[in-house]
Amino acid sequence: MNIEELKQQFVNKYGKGEVSVYFSPGRVNLIGEHTDYNGGFVFPCALTFGTYCLIRKNDKKSFHFASLNVENEADITIDQLTEPVGNEWFNYPLGVIAQFVKKGKTPDIGADLLFWGNVPNGAGLSSSAALEMVTGVAINDIYGYAEERVELVKMGQMAEHEFAGVHCGIMDQFASGMAHKDHALFLNCDTLDYEQVPVKLDGVKIVIGNTNSPHKLDSGMYNKRVAECKAAVKAIQPFKSIKQLGELSWEDFLEVQDKIEDETVRKRARHVISEIKRTRDAVDALKAGKLEKFGQLMNGSHDSLRDDYEVTGNELDTMVEEARKIDGVIGSRMTGGGFGGSTVSLVKDEAVDAFIEQVGRNYEARTGLKPEFYVAEVGEGSHKVC
Ligand code: GLA
Repeated sequence: MNIEELKQQFVNKYGKGEVSVYFSPGRVNLIGEHTDYNGGFVFPCALTFGTYCLIRKNDKKSFHFASLNVENEADITIDQLTEPVGNEWFNYPLGVIAQFVKKGKTPDIGADLLFWGNVPNGAGLSSSAALEMVTGVAINDIYGYAEERVELVKMGQMAEHEFAGVHCGIMDQFASGMAHKDHALFLNCDTLDYEQVPVKLDGVKIVIGNTNSPHKLDSGMYNKRVAECKAAVKAIQPFKSIKQLGELSWEDFLEVQDKIEDETVRKRARHVISEIKRTRDAVDALKAGKLEKFGQLMNGSHDSLRDDYEVTGNELDTMVEEARKIDGVIGSRMTGGGFGGSTVSLVKDEAVDAFIEQVGRNYEARTGLKPEFYVAEVGEGSHKVC
């Protein structure tokens, strides 16, 4: 749907008049998985698909939430903005508005909102972060709240914690809110220092493969991994004073790993610390134009997520296995939280068609699921469209 069509839909629903349009993208993480909530490094970029929010203040004491993707709508009065409503989709925008209220920025008047997104849900491409960020940026702008962008990112993350129950790190909201076109964000999730690194992939495309696996990012399994990382920190603390796993170098880990008695917890820590090293190495490789090296690190990332972190599952593993059989594939891994979702592969231009055809066919034959592929364009973070 284009902007004019979206505006027409808004007018059909809420009546004629001015309307503001905002956009926030989904993201694909190139490397650095399950490191963000451990104070480690990540390396995501924004996509060109994402979520639009059309918004106009109304003259009521309530916010109206509607979406062109789902049927349920809601009218929430200003005194109810801090309460989640069941498992409804509008908890994401509501959860963000709740963060403004908590800062003492309670709107004096309501607004009408209409959302439309083209990030596939449950594909591990951060449709929820896109929805949170687009709400934060829109509300901040039309109510003149003057929050810094990075503050809006943190508010999006809090909305996810409090209104969706996922104790996520900051990567997805940061990528959606802060990334620049044709750049990936090399983000230190402890300090929030970051660098915009140009994604110059001469002769190579980023191909996303959506497994269309029915398992969605399961908040239970995700939160369990967060807890296992905390258990690793606790086991290490008597020997080394750390607050999070990201403070350990790989060499530090080799010294203390035997102190972690629980084998599962040790494996989780091994993934996190090795992944942080792979992420730094991958950024160096990209800057030096060493794409083959970058691809090997992506492969290493997947294998560690499969064997040590155990968040891949049959569909993601099958798609990655099939991808790696294709000539011209430089690297392939799962991206995002895992447990279903998508893979990201670096594929030479001349191999892209064969990749989509063969990986698609073999994946479907082995899993019974029809996948989807997108040749990713690296897009711009949250912004006002008009
Ligand atoms: C999800 C979370 C992120 C991050 C990734 C795994 O996308 O929302 O914060 O932890 O999983 O890297």
